[in-house]
Amino acid sequence: MNMKDDNDPGVDDSFENVLEEAARNLQRRTSPGHSIARMNEGSRELVPLQLEERRLIHREESVRRQSDAFREIRTRLLGIAGQQNFVTLVVAVSPRSGGSFVTRNLAAAFAFDEAKTSLLIDCNLRYPSQHRALSVDPAGGGLIDFLEQPSLGIEPVLYRTGIPRLRLIPAGKARENSGEYFSSYRMSTMLDSLRCRYPDRYLFLDGPAIKGSPDARILSDLADFVVVVAGYGRDTPAAISQAVTNFDPEKMAGVVFNHVP
Ligand SMILES: Nc1ncnc2c1ncn2[C@@H]1O[C@H](COP(=O)(O)OP(=O)(O)O)[C@@H](O)[C@H]1O
Ligand SMILES: [Mg+2]
Repeated sequence: MNMKDDNDPGVDDSFENVLEEAARNLQRRTSPGHSIARMNEGSRELVPLQLEERRLIHREESVRRQSDAFREIRTRLLGIAGQQNFVTLVVAVSPRSGGSFVTRNLAAAFAFDEAKTSLLIDCNLRYPSQHRALSVDPAGGGLIDFLEQPSLGIEPVLYRTGIPRLRLIPAGKARENSGEYFSSYRMSTMLDSLRCRYPDRYLFLDGPAIKGSPDARILSDLADFVVVVAGYGRDTPAAISQAVTNFDPEKMAGVVFNHVP
């Protein structure tokens, strides 16, 4: 991810103000108060090369600038939200701008904190990508399969990723009419229960691009914060401003300028 300039952490100047607004709107949530941060991974942890193949940040010096940028966004979101865990929707202005790349890495940045866990949910039902990017075989189904048959339970669709404390819910079978699922009672109940179950679990929704689909806006109703990803040199300032108007200003956390290589 390349930044606008060397001093730009990758998020715009109004980030802090809007975040404060968003935080004021976070409802107090009750939770049973036990932790999954020390969850048993059960599978071998990925080495830096494998992380790079998955286009993921890691702790080595070679990707320092990128990982610092994601940590910076993490720190700001956490600073404003305080003690409560939250749901963050990440959406690109236009397709192929790096929306999924940013969502995955932001989720990883939260998981790098040993006191936290993160859950990445692929909400791009038409063009899902996270299972492939993370080399996860979604044999047990995904989000759609759970929403269609909640009686099967959430466990079969929660996959390990090889990154400690980062879990994935893949999209599941491809669907055209995703809006129906996202506006359903089942979807909001699922997110509430996933978030409330463990107070150290942070949720990241990878949505389709704002341009060309109403899903991004529908999903924003389910999120506490919205992060918009602009393709550096791809999305014009006018397109970015237009895209941002889709969301409740009180949830708008900021714009990340991503340089797709
Ligand atoms: N900053 C980046 N560094 C390296 N690869 C990137 C970066 N941004 C995007 N990519 C790659 O570009 C492709 C498109 O990005 P993706 O996140 O899928 O876009 P979107 O979700 O907005 O359609 C993917 O293969 C992704 O891994
Ligand atoms: Mg995507």
